[in-house]
Order: sequence, then C-alpha cells, then structure tokens
Amino acid sequence: MKVLVTGGMGYIGSHTCVQMIKANMEPIIIDNLCNSKLMVLDRIEALTGVRPTFYQGDVRDEAFLDKVFSEHDIQAVIHFAGLKAVGESVSKPLEYYDNNVNGSLVLVRAMRKAGVKSIVFSSSATVYGDPEVVPITESSPVGATTNPYGRSKYMVEECFSDFYKAQPDWSITLLRYFNPVGAHPSGTMGEDPQGIPNNLMPFIAQVAVGRREKLSVFGDDYSTPDGTGVRDYIHVMDLADGHIAALNAVGQKEGLHIYNLGTGNGSSVLEMVEAFGEACGKPVSYEICPRRPGDIAECWASTAKAEKDLGWKATRTIAEMTADTWNWQSKNPEGYK
Ligand code: NAD
Ligand code: UFG
Repeated sequence: MKVLVTGGMGYIGSHTCVQMIKANMEPIIIDNLCNSKLMVLDRIEALTGVRPTFYQGDVRDEAFLDKVFSEHDIQAVIHFAGLKAVGESVSKPLEYYDNNVNGSLVLVRAMRKAGVKSIVFSSSATVYGDPEVVPITESSPVGATTNPYGRSKYMVEECFSDFYKAQPDWSITLLRYFNPVGAHPSGTMGEDPQGIPNNLMPFIAQVAVGRREKLSVFGDDYSTPDGTGVRDYIHVMDLADGHIAALNAVGQKEGLHIYNLGTGNGSSVLEMVEAFGEACGKPVSYEICPRRPGDIAECWASTAKAEKDLGWKATRTIAEMTADTWNWQSKNPEGYK
C-alpha cells in the first residue's frame, strides 16, 4: 500500500515511516524541511534498507500536491506536517493557522481531486483542554483549548468532521496523541528540537548530555501525588505502530474515526527525572520553579477504544522511553548534525 506521509521527515513521521516499511507499506514522503533535516532519509534507509521516495515541498502548495498525487497510486495519507510549538503559536498565530489549518484544507482538496479518500490526522490531547475527569475518553469534552496551536488542532478536527458529513464515503481518522517521547532503539533516530526545548523529555536529555545546566520543574504545588504535573508519556515507536494499526483497521472503512494514542498511565515530572537519571547513570539537576502558564495538573488517556477497535496497545515502558532517549542523545549530542 502506497501512503503519502506529510511531515514524514519529522520526529513522529520518521519513526512511523520506519515501522511502515517494516509492515510492507510504501511511504511517499513530502516535507518542506522547516523543522527537520534531509539526513533523516539516510537514517531511514540505514534502518530499513529502503530509501523512501521524498519530495521537498509544502502542503499548502496545491500544484505541488497535484503533481505528487499524479505520479503515484496513493491509497491513503498520514498528515503529520504542521507547526507544534505552543509558545511560538502565541506570538505567531497567523503562521500557525495558515500552516496547520490552511495546510490541512489544501491537502484534503488535493486528495479529493485525486480521488484519495483516506486520511489519518495527527491531532493532540491538547484538544481536551483541562480535563474534568481522568482518564480521558474520546467522548470527553473538546474545544477548551488555551493557545493558537491547540486551537489549530481543534479547528482541523472540526473542519474534517464537517467535511465527513458532506463526504460520508471517506475514511477520516483523528489520532489524539498524548505525550510522545523516546527514540528508535538503534539510537540513530530521535527528537531533534531547534533552540531551547519546550518539552520535558528533550530538555532533560540535554541536561544529561551537558548542553544545559539544569531542568526547571514548572510547579510542585499541583494536586498530584508529588505536586508536579502528570502526563501520559508514550514511546514514539508505540505511537508509530498505532498509525499502522489505524490504517489497517479503519483506514479503508468509511467513517469519522477518533482515537486516543496513549498508554493509560500517568507519570509526574519528578518520576521522569528519576527514571532518566537511572537510564543515564547520573542524577539530572533540576530546580523547582513557578508553574508554566497554561499548564494543566494531570492528563492521561483511556486506551480502551483503541485497544478494542484497532487491536493496538502501547507496550513500551518508561524505562525503555528514557533508555532509548538517552541512547539517541548520547550518540547524537547535537542531534542531526
Ligand atoms: P516535527 O516538527 O518533528 O515534524 C513535523 C514535520 O512537518 C517537520 O519535518 C516539518 O519540517 C514538516 N512541516 C511543517 N510544516 C510543513 C508544511 N507546511 N509543509 C510540509 N512540511 C511541513 O513534529 P512531530 O513531533 O513529529 O509532530 C508531528 C505531528 O504530530 C504534528 O502535526 C504535531 O502537531 C502532532 N503532535 C505532536 C506532538 C508532540 O508532542 N510531538 C503531540 C501531539 C501532536
Ligand atoms: N515541564 C517542566 N519543565 C520543562 C518542560 C516541561 O517541568 O522544561 C513539565 C510541564 O509543566 C508538564 C510536563 O513537564 O507538567 C510535560 O510538559 P511538556 O511540555 O513536555 O508537554 P505538555 O503536556 O505540556 O504538552 C505536550 C505537547 C503539546 C501537546 C500536549 C498534548 O507539547 O503540543 O502535550 O497533551 F498538545
């Protein structure tokens, strides 16, 4: 099966391409490389023996998409391409709405022209806002987002839901990721944030490797067991497998399919710091700082629906997430350089 993968050179997309090739799928990657490096293609090839077809281009460029669709018999699309930095989205809302919302609309328009009716979209647990109840199920309330990035994900979900009502012969899958972390176990592929990392795990990894002095723990006065924020961290390889399960189970079935991709377990910031210390063999320096505006206390997924419908369940442990991140970070201290 040929699958167009937008943003396939990025963190989650690249790991998904590796797992797709292993599952005998053929990813055709498009990426404008605004947040990734061409070298990723070499790493995918080294791991799989296959160099995926790659087009450098933008999902907002309809003529470019038309050309790609005309050159391949594409059966489905996985749409990872987008901007994802919460803080940056507050200062650059137009760029975020243009890239994430407009980009998704242009893509679906090109798919409609090409007669491709199956799309899997990278959504986020951020659409749930601050949940009243955990674990979060797919029918928990959505839309109370706190920043333009989160709103852009929610808007795309709404646009796609309306589009599905008009085109009920499509298969539209919204995957709401919880907190993707970890790296390929080979240590050759992983997350390579530009500038100061926004997210916990890459920040811890850069402290451990000596690129940063210490972690700021954003708040220890939440109503959680140790007072620090609790999240559902999921290994990127499990997440990658979740996409393949979704494509296989519902990618050819008409419908609007919505799934949480998480583990169903919550871990605190201090638990992650401790686990990383064990993985790298030395304690990770940190200091307690004020809460980060917009953060929620706790968030983890109900995984029952994905398990039942997709036959998929995350299996990798926090110890594997931290060990694989450390393997990647210590072998590539400067990322893809
Ligand atoms: P990433 O930045 O590593 O990957 C995104 C890729 O898309 C990059 O390679 C970038 O160059 C490319 N891209 C961006 N805009 C593009 C455009 N207009 N045209 C073509 N290519 C473009 O991010 P990631 O962590 O791999 O995330 C993938 C998707 O998953 C994103 O949509 C993100 O919002 C979503 N998501 C990520 C997380 C997370 O914590 N990483 C959580 C929930 C949802
Ligand atoms: N944290 C710190 N110090 C840091 C970074 C994070 O203490 O330097 C804490 C946060 O306060 C939070 C936890 O670590 O309690 C996780 O923070 P992340 O920034 O790694 O992740 P978030 O849960 O805030 O957000 C992430 C993605 C969003 C996505 C959301 C979905 O960044 O894009 O998960 O749940 F929408």
